[in-house]
Amino acid sequence: MQIQWYPGHMTKARQEDLKLVDLVMELTDARAPLAGRNPDIDKLAAGKARMIFLNKADLADDQATLAWMDYFRKKGITPIRLDARKTNFKKAVVDGVKIACQENIERDRRKGILNRPIRAMVVGIPNVGKSTFINSLAGKTAAKTGNKPGVTRGNQWIKIDKQLELLDTPGILWPKFDDEAIGMKLACVGSISDEVLNMQEIAYHLLSYGKANYNQLFEARYGAVPQPDDERDNEIVLWMENIARQRGCLKRGAETDFDKVSAQITDDFRSGRIGKVSLEVPKQI
Ligand code: G4P
Repeated sequence: MQIQWYPGHMTKARQEDLKLVDLVMELTDARAPLAGRNPDIDKLAAGKARMIFLNKADLADDQATLAWMDYFRKKGITPIRLDARKTNFKKAVVDGVKIACQENIERDRRKGILNRPIRAMVVGIPNVGKSTFINSLAGKTAAKTGNKPGVTRGNQWIKIDKQLELLDTPGILWPKFDDEAIGMKLACVGSISDEVLNMQEIAYHLLSYGKANYNQLFEARYGAVPQPDDERDNEIVLWMENIARQRGCLKRGAETDFDKVSAQITDDFRSGRIGKVSLEVPKQI
């Protein structure tokens, strides 16, 4: 699969913003937490307190998510699993901030500074849920501070809590992949613009992966994987043809409309209609 990709990674402006914060809140997709990270983040966020959010956990396999939480804890990063569309996670975030920023809080205390709010910034790849997260965390009543009159509009700090202020604009990290498998995972979760993708390849991949790893869920949605009569036939293609017939994804002359059925399968996966499916698990499980 050929994927055209965006140049560079986080913009210079956002990199400058990093200098203003104590804490980097990194969002990644719970269904593919490694593929969804930019490997430069460790360099970019050097010296900062770190938290990682496994977002869209409502769509991910719970067992895999628990294993990922363990994985990140062992790496010394505080993980929180999340459905950013909900608005009930503020306490978990604020509690997590206290743990992640223990050193900053201690340092301030030694200097006699009490209750200085932690300043944080949200970063992550496109479509991972950064804006949703900021909006849910901020709520409707959050006060924005820090925009000086007469100065061109810059970043604003949103006061989440007396101990936490958040930059209102997230940093977009471009995922990096030299590996086709990573590109495919990002394509499946929708972090790569659909215009540069081959939908049929994505749907083919999802069905093959689903058959191998989540057979029950996939068969419950799409019916059993057909057994080819002829060994030269590809069972995944036959499966797609069956699904297309069930869904009426046909062209004139009852020919399979592979584009249409592929788009539907991909959309089913992205919106969780197949069930809770993760695309990668940490190596130790
Ligand atoms: P971004 O700023 O990182 O680019 O992502 P954004 O918040 O715009 O979210 C991208 C899409 O992901 C949105 O859906 C949003 O609703 C959805 N989303 C964010 N967090 C979660 C989550 O934890 N679980 C689930 N299931 N979805 C989540 P959309 O279809 O593009 O927009 P909308 O129609 O929902 O508004």
